[in-house]
Amino acid sequence: MNVISKEEIQKIRNSINIVDLISGYIPLQKRGKNYFGVCPFHDDNNPSMSVSEEKQIYTCFSCGATGNAFNFLMDYEHIGFKEALKIAADKAGINIDIQTNIKKDEDDPTYKIYELSNKLFKNNLNTKLGSQAKEYLKNRKISDEAIKEFEVGLSLSKKDELTNLLLKKNFLEKDILKSGLVNKNEKGMYDVFYERIMFPLWDLSGNVIAYSGRDYKGKYDNKYVNTKETEHFKKGEILYNYHRCKNHARVNKKVIVMEGFMDVIKAYDSSVKNVVATMGTAFTDKHANLLKRLANEVLLCFDSDDAGIKATISAADVLLKHNITPKVIEINDGLDPDDYIDKYGKEAFVELVEKPTTLIDFKLKHYKKDIDLKTNDGLSKYVNLAIEAIKKIEDDVYKEVSINKLAEESGLDKKFLKSKLDESKKELVAKKTEPKNVDRKSLSKYEKAEMNLLHYMLNDVSVVQTYLKRISCLPSKRFRDLAKHIVVFYKKNNYVNEADLITEIDDENIIKTIGFLNNLDLNDECSQEELDDYINVIEEYSLNYSINVLNSRLKEVKTSSEKAKIVQEILELKKRRDISD
Ligand code: CTP
Ligand code: MN
Repeated sequence: MNVISKEEIQKIRNSINIVDLISGYIPLQKRGKNYFGVCPFHDDNNPSMSVSEEKQIYTCFSCGATGNAFNFLMDYEHIGFKEALKIAADKAGINIDIQTNIKKDEDDPTYKIYELSNKLFKNNLNTKLGSQAKEYLKNRKISDEAIKEFEVGLSLSKKDELTNLLLKKNFLEKDILKSGLVNKNEKGMYDVFYERIMFPLWDLSGNVIAYSGRDYKGKYDNKYVNTKETEHFKKGEILYNYHRCKNHARVNKKVIVMEGFMDVIKAYDSSVKNVVATMGTAFTDKHANLLKRLANEVLLCFDSDDAGIKATISAADVLLKHNITPKVIEINDGLDPDDYIDKYGKEAFVELVEKPTTLIDFKLKHYKKDIDLKTNDGLSKYVNLAIEAIKKIEDDVYKEVSINKLAEESGLDKKFLKSKLDESKKELVAKKTEPKNVDRKSLSKYEKAEMNLLHYMLNDVSVVQTYLKRISCLPSKRFRDLAKHIVVFYKKNNYVNEADLITEIDDENIIKTIGFLNNLDLNDECSQEELDDYINVIEEYSLNYSINVLNSRLKEVKTSSEKAKIVQEILELKKRRDISD
């Protein structure tokens, strides 16, 4: 894999003008210092996206989308960082060797072992010994085309077929064992997979990196055996069928996520091809990021048993964290997509895919199922859960509709329910990023001081130095995280610059915080007096915090000498606080 240096990355970013880049995609108009256009990252009617030529970043004051030239390319084109870098370098006329489709390292024997095993398994299925397995696949209505496309194969009942082949081909024992396809005990090496239908699993570029083997004789306790996790194969970091799905998802502008790879194969056979699967593992942040590269719209189509419903809700929560509100394709009757297609046919499945349920309706329906709304206890539990879910709705109109519905079904006053929603608004501002309606008056003096300070830290090295000397930690997590990134960047580079800083941040919410600070419309320069004010306010917060900690320790300690010591410490902190007041 080729590594591109930070300097080269910065050089590429410096060689293109973000205004030229973005105006190649959306029309921009100059207004004052900045350029404005219709934001491509949400349903925008007004030009809500501003592009700063000076700072080389864009930010949408409606949805909060923020970034530099690379982020724009990644989000607009649904591509990864390296691909964006390549496009930017091409546009800037910089010749750079970037392998975007990271092909396997030809010298790595693991890939050769996988290629060879794949050939062996595929061949086995077509021999006489494969007839029962073929019959099984036929019964499961998996077409010959699908068998070919998904490279389905077979491991035979003898436990040394692959081991012997690999040894005969002169692979080293250490490489054979590393592949995860062969194990070793006191009697020697033996195949991990035998008597199973073999489904290859691919990495993001389409190289085989593991297998899942299905018991087709009903002989074993485990219906599936998977390759152990290796350097190349990490279940939480891949999605089954990702490389094949790429183009289908881009054309459809949607991607469907399932739990099992069998479901994916059957969906594909029904000509629903924009599908991937998580393969029965918990849905991770990495999965969310991969899906983002595929399409803006994510549809969850998990099994409809209790476990599948729970998994749907937790996957949705991970996606919400990444600013994606998925919809749900509901299978019902406890079936999985594969069963559904068998029972109702391909056309019925295609129709179902066209009629997804909104996340909020899905959640409310399932909360209600498990709770007795006739008891006070049940009803309040339900209303609390519903409010949590409604809070996460982005569309204001939809939010209003949902609150109305909840008022109707719970018999509670709408005003009361709304006030419950508002109660958590502040918390939401701190957690998520809703730059559009931030009412500065509703923020505490600490938050205001943090925001102002950070705004200047982003643009002025001397403010970063003052921060390091006098505070070094901020009260609110969201701001603290950004400050940490600024400090790390400054220490490495001795300068600060928003556009370069953004290149080094993976967390979208932190990048959005930068956008949020840019939208605040603060002065360009800050006087020493102002700066002192902000710092004093934040220091006061830290002192109060320490005093509180000591006060609770005071309640725990037993001896009077310990007590006296803590009281003394508290008094000193109070003195410091009151002086700076
Ligand atoms: N899985 C696994 N080991 C198991 C069961 C499941 O690794 N013992 C993984 C597989 O990757 C599978 C996914 O979890 O694709 C979903 O599991 P499940 O819904 O149980 O499998 P199905 O797709 O329904 O498989 P089949 O129809 O063959 O039973
Ligand atoms: Mn199934």
